[in-house]
Amino acid sequence: MRAPVTSPNAVNIDEAVVEHATVKNLIGEIEAMEVGEELYDAKMRVLGEMVKHHIKEEEHEIFPKAKKSKIDLQALGEQLAQRKMELKNVMIGLVSL
Ligand SMILES: [Fe+2]
Repeated sequence: MRAPVTSPNAVNIDEAVVEHATVKNLIGEIEAMEVGEELYDAKMRVLGEMVKHHIKEEEHEIFPKAKKSKIDLQALGEQLAQRKMELKNVMIGLVSL
């Protein structure tokens, strides 16, 4: 068993990875459901709560530490913008994953 992966500023990267995977799994479950199906509303609420929690951690813990690091935030921002565009194209059906 390995030690948890953390940044030099002790951000728990493993926890963020698990949160991302959990959200993706829940989205997959919701996409396979019909609106109004049993647990659909509960899963939507839990998804919203999980995403809000995750965003709060990123904005209040991870991003401030990233700003203090030597990471090239300009390059990272460009990569994120590119990925956002790719995912938007997937969402509107222009391309598939
Ligand atoms: Fe995230």
